[in-house]
Amino acid sequence: MIDLSVNFAGIKAPNPFWLASAPPTNSGYQIMKAFEAGWGGAVWKTLGVPVVNVSSRYGSVDYRNTRMMGFNNIELITDRPLADNLREIEEVKKYFPDHAVIASLMVESRKEWQQIIKDVENAGADGIELNFGCPHGMCERGMGSAVGQEPEVLKTIVEWVTEAANVPVITKLSPNISHITDPGLAAVEGGTDALSLINTIKSIVGIDLDSYAPYPVVDGKGSNGGYCGPAVKPIAMHMLKDLAQHPEISKVPISGIGGIETWRDVVEFILLGATSIQVCTAVMHYGFGIVREMEAGLRQFMEEKGYNTIYDFAGKALPNVTEWKHLNLKHQVIAEINQDKCIGCDLCYIACDDGAHQAISLPSDANNRIPSIIEENCVGCNLCSLVCPVEECITMVKTDDGTEHITWNERTLNDDVPVTFDDDRAGGKGHFVPKPSDALKVAKDK
Ligand SMILES: Cc1cc2nc3c(=O)[nH]c(=O)nc-3n(C[C@H](O)[C@H](O)[C@H](O)COP(=O)(O)O)c2cc1C
Ligand code: SF4
Ligand code: SF4
Repeated sequence: MIDLSVNFAGIKAPNPFWLASAPPTNSGYQIMKAFEAGWGGAVWKTLGVPVVNVSSRYGSVDYRNTRMMGFNNIELITDRPLADNLREIEEVKKYFPDHAVIASLMVESRKEWQQIIKDVENAGADGIELNFGCPHGMCERGMGSAVGQEPEVLKTIVEWVTEAANVPVITKLSPNISHITDPGLAAVEGGTDALSLINTIKSIVGIDLDSYAPYPVVDGKGSNGGYCGPAVKPIAMHMLKDLAQHPEISKVPISGIGGIETWRDVVEFILLGATSIQVCTAVMHYGFGIVREMEAGLRQFMEEKGYNTIYDFAGKALPNVTEWKHLNLKHQVIAEINQDKCIGCDLCYIACDDGAHQAISLPSDANNRIPSIIEENCVGCNLCSLVCPVEECITMVKTDDGTEHITWNERTLNDDVPVTFDDDRAGGKGHFVPKPSDALKVAKDK
């Protein structure tokens, strides 16, 4: 019997699908609509001293036929009065007592933190999330990512908050930093009950070719924004992994955020250690209804694998994420083309000849465009299988017999690594490369 409910640092919710603090959580109306649709929790649009926003606020990276592959915003925290938000938090909790309503907060002074924590607790918030991530506007005023980038300041504020709060505290981290474990550890040392990440990545998504200003253009000028959406998922997952593998940081639960759109994204974040997930851009793009696919897919995955709760598989990918030096240098794959599936587009040939290892040849017969792999040249880099437009047409086939295993780390310990510029132990020593003059058509024809 599958049970999707979560207890995240003491915050209970019927499922791990939460809305991230952003426009979809701007009002009680939206959050109640989302809960009706199936979301288990929501982090309210960040509360603080209400702001004044600019118009417009969003930019996007459209890639080929995909709209909003990356999304960019220069919106600030809530522009609605605190009293309105508090009244609506109270109302939402009356209708949905078992759902998680978390108040995202961002204020400046210790006194303001103490006051706003009391306010949201009185309104019935189940938890607090500290917004130390906003990389535009608020950071210019010493808040948001200005705090997230300074572990010592972050720790002090977490201490103020945890001292004042009676509900669990989640610290939301900024990805705009070299080592995410620095603010992560500072938050844990400051007493945070949980972490969430990522907030948006500092970005410029494009330049308008008439006004020469970055998007979104505000009266002829622009500013850096915060990047999110499907494009940031790999960065978010990497940072999640760094936190979840850290012995001290991993003692607190982590809510995963960044580019989550489908059930598969949800499962991947859980496999990397998240025990709730938050979504913003995908809901702004497609609406609250996406949670139905997420839930159905998650349930099916759990059924197939025999899991009852998400805790049965949370973090299961972590032991397999290792450092490069621990990978098996004896593992060998090469590309194989399924001649029956191949449509003869030759994208693989071009990619391998120009961008990889000249390991694909075209037949001399101009009427036959089906390429073949030159096995002895193929290093198994994967490029051709990634560019091939036909699913499962190029597969990577293992050629070693699995009996040998040696890593760079082991070779270093054995004094068996290249140390001079012309060392015989270099990986590419003796590997085929064409003569430079083979590139010249004239030389070839001669
Ligand atoms: C328009 C917009 C406004 C946002 N406002 C907030 C905010 O007020 N507080 C906050 O913590 N994060 C805010 N975020 C960041 C999101 O909560 C989330 O961390 C980020 O968008 C990554 O998730 P996604 O890829 O699902 O969008 C905002 C994001 C967007 C796009
Ligand atoms: S795997 Fe790499 S080297 Fe081998 S054929 Fe494909 S692109 Fe070329
Ligand atoms: S990219 Fe795929 S379909 Fe196109 S020629 Fe190569 S193997 Fe065939």
